[in-house]
Amino acid sequence: MVKRFIFSLFLASILLSKLSSAEQDRDHPRHRATRAHPIKNEEEELGAYWNDNAQRTLAAKVAAADAVELKSAKNVIMFLGDGMSVHTVTATRNFLGDSSEQVYFEQFPYTGLSKTYCVNRQVADSACTSTAYLGGVKGNYGTIGINAKVARYSCEGANTNEHHVDSIAQWAQDAGKDAGFVTSSRVTHASPAGLYAHTADRNWENDDEVSAAGCDPEQTIDIARQLVEWPVGKGLKVILGGGRQNFLNATSRDEEGYPGYRNDGRNLIKDWIADKQAANASAHYVWSRKGLSLVDLDNTDYLLGLFSASHLPYNGDRVREHRELADPSLSELTAAAIQVLQRNDKGFFLFVEGARIDMAHHDTYARRALEDTVEFAKAVQVAREMTSLEDTLVVVTADHAHTMTINGYPHRDEEITGVVDSLADDGLPYTILSYANGPGYSNTYSKAQGRNLLNNKQTQDVNFLHSAMVPLDSETHGGDDVAVYASGPFAQYFSGNYEQSNIPALMARAANIGPYANVQP
Ligand SMILES: *[C@@H]1O[C@H](CO)[C@@H](O)[C@H](O)[C@H]1NC(C)=O
Ligand SMILES: *[C@@H]1O[C@H](CO)[C@@H](O)[C@H](O)[C@H]1NC(C)=O
Ligand SMILES: [Zn+2]
Repeated sequence: MVKRFIFSLFLASILLSKLSSAEQDRDHPRHRATRAHPIKNEEEELGAYWNDNAQRTLAAKVAAADAVELKSAKNVIMFLGDGMSVHTVTATRNFLGDSSEQVYFEQFPYTGLSKTYCVNRQVADSACTSTAYLGGVKGNYGTIGINAKVARYSCEGANTNEHHVDSIAQWAQDAGKDAGFVTSSRVTHASPAGLYAHTADRNWENDDEVSAAGCDPEQTIDIARQLVEWPVGKGLKVILGGGRQNFLNATSRDEEGYPGYRNDGRNLIKDWIADKQAANASAHYVWSRKGLSLVDLDNTDYLLGLFSASHLPYNGDRVREHRELADPSLSELTAAAIQVLQRNDKGFFLFVEGARIDMAHHDTYARRALEDTVEFAKAVQVAREMTSLEDTLVVVTADHAHTMTINGYPHRDEEITGVVDSLADDGLPYTILSYANGPGYSNTYSKAQGRNLLNNKQTQDVNFLHSAMVPLDSETHGGDDVAVYASGPFAQYFSGNYEQSNIPALMARAANIGPYANVQP
């Protein structure tokens, strides 16, 4: 009896081991490519190529470590790629031409990982993360500039300063530095609002939204008013982005004919200009790329640029639709901001957001997300080249990830936005980039036949919604860690794995400002 039992165990184990080697073959298929794939770079076939590569990386690390100086950073520039997951950066290398490419900021000597969860959610949004990476405190999903004692949508929760979280923009201003920001979203959108606003809901960008939520807009002040009236917003020397509608009354129209959203009769753009004029400051409001080009930036104290009724266009669309002369790019806006802020001898804090990487991912427009990442990297390069490594810390990171992944053993010469050159078990091709959820579901599946037949021509179209497993009209954020890349004084602080809310402390210590100035071990 016992013998027979042992024998059957033996049989079972043979069967199991057979199964697992079959599994292994299935997991790592031999080539089933339908065409020849030439080697990208023949030097890669030699070990020496990779040895040289390692030598160069090592030399750069040694040089960066030797260059560590204990002088504080005069300027800090923080770049935020909204939704720029690690996968987005990896895919951008291929989009630039090949896996061996480096996205500009990947050359920075120090890289770390930040944990993006918020107090009440594993997967965060751009509001609670903004409080974390600009103010140093994690809050509740959907809230900005307040701690987690305040629930989202609480009308009164942010009306007193009891639960307010101060931002690094304020620490810079208190230290006599200037502060400003650039974004490709509305200037009242969640990410930049973390610099100057305290609100229990990210949607309260104008008084109409506050009323619609059942709150009194005279008590619960909307984000646009906070930007124009409250001390940190009033003190910002540079405000560049989109979103004119939140500044104008519903009965008036902006320069391009779009109606305002406000009910209180205010024109906050006029109020902003009047406030600066009352202080005899040189202040300019512009709404077009041409208007910006006419401003004497070297003699400008305050610059407000609202280049669109809502968000600025996707960078890829700006180029495809030949709007380069009408609409400024993120890198042009970054250069203008630095030119104005560099006038302060005590230095500055600048926040630059590539906002539309996130919006493209929500629509499962993988190609647009990569195009906006390319422009974002260009803005980082412009900033790094306009400033000195000796006195300017540049930090590049993201607020949260997205669900896009890179799959299927594609050959090196396959375009990342295309399909894998081997078929799935249903005999159909599948895309290299795909999402866990989102509107791309409708391209992926049809009710009757299962998966749809896709080809490279379709998937490389800019309007193609990349494959998604679960139907959702807006793809969700991802909960994975995001990367932090740093260059300049004290860049070494940014290596390792830490809470996203630690980032302001690291930047502030590097610049010796705010509550983290002069902190000693
Ligand atoms: C502002 O717009 C509202 C409609 O939302 C209108 O009732 C009001 O009269 C307007 N105020 C001014 C001063 O134009
Ligand atoms: C602005 O300039 C005017 C005229 O030169 C002067 O009367 C006024 O006091 C100045 N205001 C401020 C805030 O400096
Ligand atoms: Zn988002």
